[in-house]
Amino acid sequence: MSKLRVGVIGLGILGSQHTSYLHEHEATQVVAVADIRPDVAQRVAGQVGAQGYGDYQEMLRQHALDLVVVATPDPLHREPVMAALAAGVPNILEEKPFASTWEDALDMYEAVERRGARLFVHFANRATPLDIATRYVIQQGLLGRAVYGEARLDDNISVPTQMWGERTREWAGGSSTAHFLLSHVVDLLRWYFAPAEVKEVYAISQREVLWYTPDVYDAYLTFDSGLKVRVKAEWIRHMDELVEFYLSFSGSEGTLIYNKRGGFGTEPGWRANVSGRLSAEQLIQHQEALLARGANVAAKLHRPTPTAGSLAAGGGQLARALEYRGLGYGEPMALVNHCLAAIEQGTLEPEGWKGNGPLPTHVDGLRQTQITMAIIRSAESGRVVALDSM
Ligand SMILES: NC(=O)c1ccc[n+]([C@@H]2O[C@H](COP(=O)([O-])OP(=O)(O)OC[C@H]3O[C@@H](n4cnc5c(N)ncnc54)[C@H](O)[C@@H]3O)[C@@H](O)[C@H]2O)c1
Repeated sequence: MSKLRVGVIGLGILGSQHTSYLHEHEATQVVAVADIRPDVAQRVAGQVGAQGYGDYQEMLRQHALDLVVVATPDPLHREPVMAALAAGVPNILEEKPFASTWEDALDMYEAVERRGARLFVHFANRATPLDIATRYVIQQGLLGRAVYGEARLDDNISVPTQMWGERTREWAGGSSTAHFLLSHVVDLLRWYFAPAEVKEVYAISQREVLWYTPDVYDAYLTFDSGLKVRVKAEWIRHMDELVEFYLSFSGSEGTLIYNKRGGFGTEPGWRANVSGRLSAEQLIQHQEALLARGANVAAKLHRPTPTAGSLAAGGGQLARALEYRGLGYGEPMALVNHCLAAIEQGTLEPEGWKGNGPLPTHVDGLRQTQITMAIIRSAESGRVVALDSM
C-alpha cells in the first residue's frame, strides 16, 4: 500500500512530535508542514525532507494530502480544521481539546459530517495500557455498579508561566485548565464508563494567582447512570513534577486506585480491588485478558488488615486484586498508530484496538466540548448546568 501523504499544521511542542513520529512511521510520509513562524516551518521541514509553509492555506493548495495533523494552540483549532476539510482532506488528526467554544465545536462537527471525512481527536491517554485496563475493569463490572469517583490532573505552575517561552501568557490566557487538562479527563471518563453520559455539572473556579487564566476548575459531574465524579485541575502548583494525575473509582463491590503520577511521596501504580464474587480462576482469566491488551498486571489474593495505630477496621477476609506498580505509560504516540491503522482498515476498531471501544472522533470531541463548556458556565454562574440545556 502506498504511504499516506501527511501535512502538519502548527509545529510547536506537539506538532514537532507528530512530525517526527509520522516521518518515522512506515505508513506515512510527511510531505508538507506549516507554521505561522516561517523559520520554524523551514527548520522542521528540513529535518524530515518536507516542504515548509508560513501559511497553511498555501500548503493545502499545493498538496493533495491524505491526512492533516492540526496542532495549533487550544483556541486555534477551528480554522485549520475547517480549511483542511474545505480542501477535501479525507482524514484529520486534531490535537485535544476538540474546541474551546461550543460554536467552534458545532461548526467542525457539522463540517466533518457534511464532508463524510474522518476526524480523530488525539486523546492520547486512551491508548496507555493502564487506562485500557481501567476501562476493562469498569466495563466488565469488576467493581460492581460504579457509583463515585475522583480525578485530579494538575500542572506545575511553570506550565502557565513558562512552558511556551515568551508566548506563554498569551497561550495560557487563551486556554484554561478546563480546556487544556480537563478535556483529557472528561474524555477518559466518557470512554471508561460508556455508554453512560454526563447529564449535569456543578463547578467552581478562581483567579487568585494567575490573573490571565483561572488557577483551577473543580467540578462535580453527574452521569445518567447515577455515577458522580469529582474532577479537578489546577495549574498553580509549586511541585517537583510537571504533571500530577490521580484517579480513583468506587463501585458497589470494589475500588480502583490509579496513581498515574501521584507526586511527592507517592509511588505510581494501579490497583483494582475487585469484587469478592470472583473465583481465583476468574481473576486469572481477567489477568490474561489484560495481558492480551498490553497491561501486564499481577493477580493477587490476599488478606488486607486495615489498621491505624491501635484502631483496626475489619480485615482478614480474602480479597482479590489486580495490580501494577510503576508508571506504565507505554508508547506516547500509541493512539496515533491506532488511528493510522483505522484509516488503513476503514474502521474505528482496527486490529490491535479491538475490544477497546471506538477510537475518539469528532463525536467524542463534541461531547468533550459540551462538558468542558458546562464546567466553565457553571463556575461562572454558580449554578448547576444541565447538558441538555446547552
Ligand atoms: N495530546 C496531548 O497529550 C497533548 C499534550 C500537550 C498539548 N496538547 C495540545 O496540542 C496543541 C498544541 O500545543 P503545543 O504545546 O504544541 O503548543 P505550541 O504553542 O508549542 O505549538 C503551537 C504551534 O502552532 C503555531 N501556530 C499558531 N497559530 C497558527 C496558525 N494560524 N497557523 C499555523 N501555525 C500556527 C505556533 O507558531 C506554534 O508553533 C494544543 O491544543 C495542546 O492542548 C496535547
